[in-house]
Amino acid sequence: MKKKIMPLIAGNWKMNGDAGSFLEVEVIKDRLAAQEINADVAICPPATLLHRISVALHESLAKTGAQNCHAQANGAYTGDISVPMISEAGGSYVIVGHSERRGAYNESDSDVRAKAVAALEGGIIPIVCCGESLDIRESGKAIDVVITQIINSCPDFSAEQSIVVAYEPIWAIGTGKTASVADVDEMHNAIRNALTKRFGDPGTTIKILYGGSVKPSNAKELLSVENVNGALVGGASLKADDFLGIIEAA
Ligand code: 13P
Repeated sequence: MKKKIMPLIAGNWKMNGDAGSFLEVEVIKDRLAAQEINADVAICPPATLLHRISVALHESLAKTGAQNCHAQANGAYTGDISVPMISEAGGSYVIVGHSERRGAYNESDSDVRAKAVAALEGGIIPIVCCGESLDIRESGKAIDVVITQIINSCPDFSAEQSIVVAYEPIWAIGTGKTASVADVDEMHNAIRNALTKRFGDPGTTIKILYGGSVKPSNAKELLSVENVNGALVGGASLKADDFLGIIEAA
């Protein structure tokens, strides 16, 4: 039996989007207002658009989030943005530990955890990402590697706080390849067990999102897997119709 957890469909725009993207945001806002939606929704645009999109989505079901944060609240960290800044810009979530950042900026599990702690302290929900490379998948160590990432990257949290976990196999990101339903099922069960072991009862309701080439045509199948509590969507979140198709599949 699938546990009743409100799914979260989160769009990660990555380094995409400009003033023209507001047309997509308006379509999303209008269509969400016109129908019953069985999901929480978030859009994580580039930092330059966060405030404007948060304002545009004011009083909409959709929330916003950032794609990264610094662990400190302020200071001499050229180019970074902090959790209080994200919060002031209207963000409710922040993605931490995306594989593109772990890879390109050598972010370790402890870096990711420090960012997630900062998010919680600033009243923002961290979306803590994990996922294995193709080499690791083929070596048969995917579950061990991902569980270690999760355990070392997730912060403790109180009853008033919540965290979200996103499993994104690196080889499925932006490639059009998705993990098989059997692999997703196996991995999400393993993550659920690890979260429950680590956090006790609160671990049973942490949302575990799947990410990696999610699109309207495969969303229903992926979202119906036990312990898949939503999706972290890259490319397909850039077009309102595609993103709405995924939200409607939840
Ligand atoms: P795609 O949906 O483009 O594969 O990206 C997934 C992702 O990295 C979301 O964070």
